[in-house]
Amino acid sequence: MVAKEKKEEAHGHKHPTAQVDYVIDFRDVTKTYKLGVTTVEALRGINLSVERGDSISIMGPSGSGKSTLLHIMGCLDVPTSGKYYLDGLDVATLGSDDLARTRGKKIGFVFQFFHLIPSLNAIENVILPMMFDSIGEEERWKKAEALLDKVGLKSRMYHKPNELSGGERQRVAIARALSQNPTVLLADEPTGNLDSAVGAEIIKLFHKLHHEEGITLVTVTHDPQIAHYADRVIFIKDGLIEKITKGTEHERMVEMLKKEISFEQATGLGAGEEEKLLKVLEKDGKNGKKPEGAKKKR
Ligand SMILES: Nc1ncnc2c1ncn2[C@@H]1O[C@H](COP(=O)(O)OP(=O)(O)O)[C@@H](O)[C@H]1O
Ligand SMILES: [Mg+2]
Repeated sequence: MVAKEKKEEAHGHKHPTAQVDYVIDFRDVTKTYKLGVTTVEALRGINLSVERGDSISIMGPSGSGKSTLLHIMGCLDVPTSGKYYLDGLDVATLGSDDLARTRGKKIGFVFQFFHLIPSLNAIENVILPMMFDSIGEEERWKKAEALLDKVGLKSRMYHKPNELSGGERQRVAIARALSQNPTVLLADEPTGNLDSAVGAEIIKLFHKLHHEEGITLVTVTHDPQIAHYADRVIFIKDGLIEKITKGTEHERMVEMLKKEISFEQATGLGAGEEEKLLKVLEKDGKNGKKPEGAKKKR
């Protein structure tokens, strides 16, 4: 919080609601790639803030800059210009060692092609990022076991990646991404290599982690199912944010009640009850109220 206030001072303004806690804050971020004589402007001025415990999806055509954006969020790359604050920290002020350490501690990555180590079994893959932690070996194994249990893979702990299905491999990758208790979980097309039924199970898992553990979740996806679960969907085009649709569950419920089916059909209650409910939902939506546990600090 202290870092956050300092940051606001440096920019000469305070956010209207002092308690807003941004985990990700992009200020006019650009990214230019130089390839010989040609330059590619992958990002052309991104302003985006993500609150702790939020879930956002990034959608857009191929080549629009989605992966570039996610890589900068995950400290795998740095902006060409503009500022990126991760958990209140200006990443440009970090040297490469500190940047790597920050990435290791604050970011969990999930990729389309899993990126598991083929010669290690599931539990060893999950343990790997914990090898440099100060906790003892026994504790590491216990933790990895608990994580695999959490993602529904307890019975496959000693299987190697080539003995697991695509969905199971992605579950291992998710357990591994959680091993450092990351502040943010970043996923680049996590269902892109899975058939839709398996993809739906992975989406449910992300949804569960977000709601039960309060993980801040950023997912790049073409999958409308994932986007449907997100609090906001960020559409990007040609390196710019084209639009942001806000869709908290409350707002979606309001929409459903207003448009899709009548309140009476949905609930069997009368119109007076509907008005009361809409008021409550709209108020909650404005307050950004989330289900229990969704705002747990990490
Ligand atoms: N390492 C790189 N070097 C040069 N150009 C790149 C590099 N990475 C991405 N680009 C270019 O930047 C643009 C955005 O790419 P990317 O962020 O991967 O888009 P998306 O993930 O939306 O498909 C594309 O034109 C792509 O060719
Ligand atoms: Mg991409």
